[in-house]
Amino acid sequence: EKGGYDYFMLKEIAEQPKAVADTLLGRIDVSGSLRLDELRMTAAELREVDKVVIVACGTAFHAGMIAKYAIEHWTRIPCEVELASEFRYRDPILDPRTLVIAISQSGETMDTLMALRHAREQGSKVLAICNTNGSTIPRESDAVLYTHAGPEVAVASTKAFLTQLVACYLVALYLGQVRGTKWGDEIHVVIRDLSQISREVERVLETMEPVRELARSLAHKNTVLFLGRHVGYPVALEGALKLKELAYMHAEGFAAGELKHGPIALIEEDLPVVVVVPSPRGRSVLHDKIVSNIQEIRARGARTIVIAEEGDEAVVPYADHLIRIPATPTLLQPLVATVPLQVFACELATARGNEVDQPRNLAKSVTVE
Ligand code: F6R
Repeated sequence: EKGGYDYFMLKEIAEQPKAVADTLLGRIDVSGSLRLDELRMTAAELREVDKVVIVACGTAFHAGMIAKYAIEHWTRIPCEVELASEFRYRDPILDPRTLVIAISQSGETMDTLMALRHAREQGSKVLAICNTNGSTIPRESDAVLYTHAGPEVAVASTKAFLTQLVACYLVALYLGQVRGTKWGDEIHVVIRDLSQISREVERVLETMEPVRELARSLAHKNTVLFLGRHVGYPVALEGALKLKELAYMHAEGFAAGELKHGPIALIEEDLPVVVVVPSPRGRSVLHDKIVSNIQEIRARGARTIVIAEEGDEAVVPYADHLIRIPATPTLLQPLVATVPLQVFACELATARGNEVDQPRNLAKSVTVE
């Protein structure tokens, strides 16, 4: 049932183009507009929403962090994202105009369930983004948008994460569409780009051999750091989480702008640092900032592993290892930038002799608080 792969995780990484395409299927109509009756909220109700709050754990939380950038940019609705395990203990401000989005692959994560119960008690509507039909979280929510990743068996989440991102983009774009924000034109372009993105994920998968080779060469290391800005920051956190849980290595993700506020002290000779570089097109200021971050860490001896868009030449002089990803709109980049990090962690774990599908101390769904 591993379909010819040694591990479920490898199979699930390979299934990502299909998972992404399946999650979009039937949700974009022929005119290029979104159809999301599943949200079970009328256009009038959606126009009433004045705040979005996202709750989730682990990898699903990283999807939520990325969703915040998309929701605020495309809809101008303020969006908070919070770890489900922290949420209800701080007496969050919620009311009927708050839309709460609970993201969960399994639909059984106790922290996320408790957060959504708390939100509903305060009168907020809860939308679940979930991969498991009929599980507890969608059953207890007002509405559910299912991700169509298919069953995810490996403990480390891969294809579920990409489909959670797709679902979040769909919700964000739909809110924008229904509310008729000033980003109307951009929304149509993004819907088109999103509908073609599964092919780009496929292209990334075709070029992963050098990433595997690099991972094997780093199997003896103790620490790997990950840096990103904007949506590249949650991607960096996700890369670090994958490496922790699979390779049992010390791995940390940082917002690149925070470097000089502390983490740069960690940089030493030959320390591997993975940097997720935003597109040089569009918000180029982000790009230029990160190029100088790469220079700074390299000057202090870091071994730089740079994930950058095809055609981005500015990074070449500072990259000890360069991993190319296809050009995508900035907000969609996590769909392609995360894939090399999954492959990297999986290969490094294998090289260290770890059990990839069933890492020590971890369970696929965490049904205790
Ligand atoms: C990481 C991982 C976990 C889950 C988290 C939430 O690879 O799998 O961090 O993402 O436990 O699980 P769900 O999405 O089932 O609520």
